[in-house]
Amino acid sequence: MTKVLVTGAGGPAGVAVIRSLLARPDADVFAADMDGWASGLYLVPPNRRRIVPPGADPAFVDDLVTMCKEDEIDVLVSTVDVELPPLATRRAELHQSAGTTLAAPPTATLDVALDKYTLARRCESMTRVPETALLDTEGCARPWTFPVIVKPRRGAGSRGVRIVKDRPALTALGIDPTQIIQEFLPGQEYSVDVIADAEGHVVAAVPRTRTRVDSGVSIAGLTLHDAELEAVASAVATAIGLVGVANVQLRRDVNGLPALLEVNPRFAGAMPLTIAAGVDLPSLALDLALGTPLPQRVDFVELANVRFLEDVFVDPAEVLMSAHAGHADGDLVP
Ligand SMILES: Nc1ncnc2c1ncn2[C@@H]1O[C@H](COP(=O)(O)OP(=O)(O)O)[C@@H](O)[C@H]1O
Ligand SMILES: [Mg+2]
Repeated sequence: MTKVLVTGAGGPAGVAVIRSLLARPDADVFAADMDGWASGLYLVPPNRRRIVPPGADPAFVDDLVTMCKEDEIDVLVSTVDVELPPLATRRAELHQSAGTTLAAPPTATLDVALDKYTLARRCESMTRVPETALLDTEGCARPWTFPVIVKPRRGAGSRGVRIVKDRPALTALGIDPTQIIQEFLPGQEYSVDVIADAEGHVVAAVPRTRTRVDSGVSIAGLTLHDAELEAVASAVATAIGLVGVANVQLRRDVNGLPALLEVNPRFAGAMPLTIAAGVDLPSLALDLALGTPLPQRVDFVELANVRFLEDVFVDPAEVLMSAHAGHADGDLVP
């Protein structure tokens, strides 16, 4: 049996990964979260539930290495943004001292994806990227068509995203190179779940709409075949050297052409729709981590979903104690 530890068990992405892997007869699934009330913990048997420190805690990776060693974990799947860079940085150590393979994109991919300015520069020669500049003297001086978007280079959950309606409003923002100025894309928005194999070859790119969103999580939408959306998302994946899973967000420009908004280099919370449509990303990511060759191409069907909350009932004595409650801001996933 392959032992898989899934972190972020309280988030929609964590729950989706756990549910997908529980269906694998060859895997024993362990679930971890920093909060004892994380729902996904209670989808696995009691002896496979783990409490971990917050991803930003300096002890996080050390504790994970120790835990993986003790539990003889073969594959570690992190579904939490803040955990990915520290884990990816110490991927080799995790493998050497605990024998655990980290199922997460390469550090170089994370570095590009987590900085929206670097991402735009990296992708602009490969595909349609909205005009993007730093909020500095040169950036402000450009002949922008208003409105423009101003947002943090490193942001999440739409925090700090502003529509700036004219030049006086842009000038009033002052200079702040931690922010970017970006051409406003007025059209429909899409999330494309992508997986690339060990050689960076894109195996699947599944565009879906976020038709209804609640607290940053898509609660209704549909997958759709659109060669242009699939091509743009695939080009972005190739440009950033993706190996594994990412969520590429696109939006149509004034001419209706899909353009790159951002890349979340991890599993999306709305992934159950993608899985039901035929592309079981967690299972494919597990195969990738295990060195099992992936198919050349995995197709999907057009499918719509609506979602609701569901209860897991446990004996109160079973609820794990943890020093941390819930997720810090920034852990909400699309
Ligand atoms: N250039 C843009 N044009 C139009 N809308 C945008 C643009 N950039 C961001 N937005 C809106 O803001 C949301 C959040 O921006 P995004 O780039 O996805 O950053 P994050 O999700 O990391 O906060 C997007 O889903 C989109 O609705
Ligand atoms: Mg986003």
